[in-house]
Amino acid sequence: MSSLLPRKRLEILLSKLEGFPEPCAEFEQYEVSDSVAATMAFTAATYGDIEGRVVYDLGCGPGRLAIAAALLGAERVVAVDIDSKVLKVAKRNAQQLDVYDQIEFVVQDVKTLKGRADTVLMNAPFGVQQARADRPFLKKGIELANVVYSLHKASKGGRDFITQFVSSLGGHVSFIQEMSMGLAATLRFHEKQRHVIHVDFYRIEKTEV
Ligand SMILES: C[S@@+](CC[C@H](N)C(=O)[O-])C[C@H]1O[C@@H](n2cnc3c(N)ncnc32)[C@H](O)[C@@H]1O
Repeated sequence: MSSLLPRKRLEILLSKLEGFPEPCAEFEQYEVSDSVAATMAFTAATYGDIEGRVVYDLGCGPGRLAIAAALLGAERVVAVDIDSKVLKVAKRNAQQLDVYDQIEFVVQDVKTLKGRADTVLMNAPFGVQQARADRPFLKKGIELANVVYSLHKASKGGRDFITQFVSSLGGHVSFIQEMSMGLAATLRFHEKQRHVIHVDFYRIEKTEV
């Protein structure tokens, strides 16, 4: 591995980026925190899954994970979101950190996405607003890539379910790391200005490559 941008430096760079302009509850538009985004991308990099790799960010929102992958030396990054307004923000954010040319921005529903990746990095809808909204993302991640790094709302039942679901898709969970994530009150049903939630960070490998 060549010299990697330090995790803390990555987090500081991500903290300069814009968030969702008009968050939409239906699409569960809340963003990953700078700290969690930096940990996800840096962990993937230390496994050798970023540098020189083709990385997809599914449900990229304002683009923190895609941009982190580009900053950590991905060969090519594809940032996908269903919402064209939010992709404009992701483009501005990429320009701000000088990685615009490394990222292809795609407005598309992940369900119909085609492609081939080495690695998927994603913080998809948790499925809180629309039950099962996370499932097409897991399915597509395992279809596109050999390894998927994915963030989910932490719960015991959730871990059992995701582990089984991933196995039914031909993958297996190689680790789960619980983290706390500060969430700004961006959606109308958020009662506090800022609250902390527990999230599970999964590394998923395709079993049948
Ligand atoms: C929880 S937000 C996370 C955004 C970003 N990954 C982050 O962590 O800051 C989920 C994102 O998925 C997008 N999204 C929801 N449903 C989608 C779908 N079917 N296809 C593509 N993107 C979708 C939303 O527009 C939103 O930007």
